Amino acid sequence: GEPPAENAVPQAGGDGLVLLRRIGRADPESLDGYRALGGYTALRRAFALGPAGVIREVLDAGLVGRGGAAFPTGRKWEATARQPERTHYLVCNADESEPGTFKDRVLMEGDPYALVEAMTIAGYAVGAHRGYLYLRGEYPRALRRMEHAIGRARTRGLLGDDVLGQGYAFDIEIRRGAGAYVCGEETAIFNSIEGMRGEPRSKPPFPVERGLFDRPTAVNNVETLVNVLPILERGAAAYAAVGTAGSTGTKLFCVSGTVRRPGVYELPFGARLRDLVELSGGVPEGRRLRAVLLGGAAGAFVRPDELEIPLTFEGTREAGATLGSGVVLLLDDSVELPRTLLRIAEFFRDESCGQCVPCRVGTVRQEEALHRLARPARTEADAAGDVALLREVGAAMRDASICGLGQTAWNAVESAIDRLGVYAGDLPADGLPAAGGPEHPVDG
Ligand code: NAI
Ligand code: SF4
Repeated sequence: GEPPAENAVPQAGGDGLVLLRRIGRADPESLDGYRALGGYTALRRAFALGPAGVIREVLDAGLVGRGGAAFPTGRKWEATARQPERTHYLVCNADESEPGTFKDRVLMEGDPYALVEAMTIAGYAVGAHRGYLYLRGEYPRALRRMEHAIGRARTRGLLGDDVLGQGYAFDIEIRRGAGAYVCGEETAIFNSIEGMRGEPRSKPPFPVERGLFDRPTAVNNVETLVNVLPILERGAAAYAAVGTAGSTGTKLFCVSGTVRRPGVYELPFGARLRDLVELSGGVPEGRRLRAVLLGGAAGAFVRPDELEIPLTFEGTREAGATLGSGVVLLLDDSVELPRTLLRIAEFFRDESCGQCVPCRVGTVRQEEALHRLARPARTEADAAGDVALLREVGAAMRDASICGLGQTAWNAVESAIDRLGVYAGDLPADGLPAAGGPEHPVDG
């Protein structure tokens, strides 16, 4: 069964929280409860500002996307709004399939009206009358809560032909994903909604020009959208006063792995990785921290002596890592890193949609090389050869893949080699058994 959502939110409803402020405090099924805790003040302010005014606030607040790529939300909305076509769409990307990411789930299960309100504001700003919520298939509770909230909002005039009596028509339709990682890629979402195979399209053209049904489309992650509420409630300046110049506001971090208190944590940008490790209790008693995977399978490993890295988009970039969608996966010294890398490589090989050669072939070659590297009988020379091959394959995937899946499929492995020295004398003398290591044939 599903674990209770409460377990995943150690800080729920605590003081100083912005995005998690209602989680655990409001009944997620009660619209009145939502309104009693500030719900729908942001939408009223949005109507007072007008679409251009809302975009101005979001630009001034410095909000950037929380799905992983940190693109400025205001610029995306502005570009969508200015397209001359009559029909514009809003898509909320709630596919959340980056391994180790579960923040959007907590928001949708614990504060579903917040997403309904935020989508309405986004739709208003970009000139859309229809919003699609593309929801991860494995989130049944989030589906129930979102369906319920959308239904209630409709009956109360908060969605529909005349939202809040302001003459603006907007409604939300839920579409469920079916478990493919690549379907979280924004253009694959369009194909999936349009009834085609969930394969990414080439960009450009960007969705702001030609997105869903070839119409201008703003695609935003759940956490990104929910940030629009405090921006409108408090004003852009107050919002931007938290965090750093390059990363404003607060961020949800998903802490997992060999850690005492896994869960979703909200911290202002600029906190150190060390703060988060301490807040979550660190690794279990008697264990040593071996590495932290930042940003998920598409991210990078950092060492225990790098915990001063600031948790900001610019700070992690400078450190040669990435914040991604906020994954912080702790690995203690009991974890066999070569096995972890194999697991990651296997994931990318499984999830590659096979549409383009660098990714389809590269993810297979990467996994094979990692299998060879994990075998006990390998010689130093063989290992060096395989590491060189990994670099070559990795560069081809990064440079020539159509979408983010292939472009990032080598990130974690590269960082494990370069930062953790995984295959440089770190491997136990007897290596790993060649567990289940089939060489996968590749066509093409
Ligand atoms: P991207 O950098 O191509 O695009 C980011 C966003 O900005 C997109 O919405 C794109 O349409 C828009 N954009 C970029 N340039 C633009 C321009 N010139 N004009 C208008 N719009 C523009 O990144 P992508 O491939 O969308 O996302 C990659 C990220 O996704 C990675 O950083 C990874 O961490 C993250 N990711 C997150 C997952 C999750 O579950 N949250 C799952 C897998 C990956
Ligand atoms: Fe498909 Fe991989 Fe190419 Fe993306 S990079 S389109 S997942 S084959």
